[in-house]
Amino acid sequence: MARIPKNDLPLMAEDEGIVLFYPHMPKKAKEYVCDTLDGRWIGQGPKVDLFEARFRAQFNQPGPCISTGSGTDALHLAYLLAGIKPGDEVLVPLFTCTATNLPLLYIGAKPVFVDVDPRTLNISVEDMKRKISPSTRAIVCVHYGGLPCDMAEIQALAAKYSIPVIEDAAHALGARYDGKPVGALSAFTMYSFQAIKHLTTGDGGMLTFQDAGLAPLARRLRWFGIDREDKQKGIWENDIRDIGYKYQMTDIGAAIGLAGLEEFDDTLRHRRNLYRRYVEKLKPLQYVQIVDDFDPRKEHAAWLFTVLVEKRVECQLKLRSRRIESGQTHYRNDRYSVFGCHDEFPNMDAIDDKYLILPLHTRMSVADVDRICDVLAEGW
Ligand SMILES: Cc1ncc(COP(=O)(O)O)c(C=O)c1O
Repeated sequence: MARIPKNDLPLMAEDEGIVLFYPHMPKKAKEYVCDTLDGRWIGQGPKVDLFEARFRAQFNQPGPCISTGSGTDALHLAYLLAGIKPGDEVLVPLFTCTATNLPLLYIGAKPVFVDVDPRTLNISVEDMKRKISPSTRAIVCVHYGGLPCDMAEIQALAAKYSIPVIEDAAHALGARYDGKPVGALSAFTMYSFQAIKHLTTGDGGMLTFQDAGLAPLARRLRWFGIDREDKQKGIWENDIRDIGYKYQMTDIGAAIGLAGLEEFDDTLRHRRNLYRRYVEKLKPLQYVQIVDDFDPRKEHAAWLFTVLVEKRVECQLKLRSRRIESGQTHYRNDRYSVFGCHDEFPNMDAIDDKYLILPLHTRMSVADVDRICDVLAEGW
């Protein structure tokens, strides 16, 4: 069991300085939500369909797009649709939000943790090669912070073992790999629209997949195992054959999402400008290592900006003394006893007390990034 690191520093009040995260609420959100509240559908209705259609077109998603109540719901559906069964082994990232891995426990499957690539904090392809076996049923990867994983290498490995890749793109809406949007690369891809993501629906998610034939099952599993369309038309055969869930998005959420889609390009541009500025200002500092491999195949979605530093606690206290929040956000999952993992992860051990996330959101300006970098340039 990994040792438990210190907790994050307490959050700052938002008027105290530069906070780590802030939701991006698009200008038209209130209007679209009010319009929804005045209408007949506040749960899953026509706005959900419209949001799915617009999302698919805007992000060039080749497969069906099925919205959900959260990214976690979408991942659970992906694992079910991929045919993962109790006892199946699935290669998963050690370093991620627990939401990546907990739905495997819902099924009774066995997450097999793979160490990090210390340059990117993405899943290590080297360690994946060591852990993959004929018992492996799927590979799950997370584009940490919005930086795509080494998809060519991961796809090649999956093809060798004839198993699907499931992408957790919770951080990576807008990211591209080899010119293609994430979501166009693997058997399944999930996005999250949780409060502080690029595009929010309050809470929500999207699942997209290559095999369009799975869409009716995906929609049934999302809604109690019932064919909702047939039910509304009055032609549903009134039987439930699959264990379904209540995983749908609501029209209230979709209304916020539709407003977010309209602003998405500006949101992404702004976040990428902040990211680039961080890189420009911090690259010359020898004691700050930027978590990014700057691989030209990868276009970063700029959700998180992460660095590796020595004496992290001191660094955080110094930033806090200048009214700047910082944090860890995600932790290695072997620290959580629910996973019962006792393996060794030398790459993660090496960076566990060094990784630090700096503020990045649309309420910030380039001048805010400069202020943060200037504090770091003073040392700690
Ligand atoms: C990597 C990762 N996967 C999955 C999720 C779960 O998404 P959601 O909060 O929408 O359920 C999150 C967190 O939001 C995440 O950061």
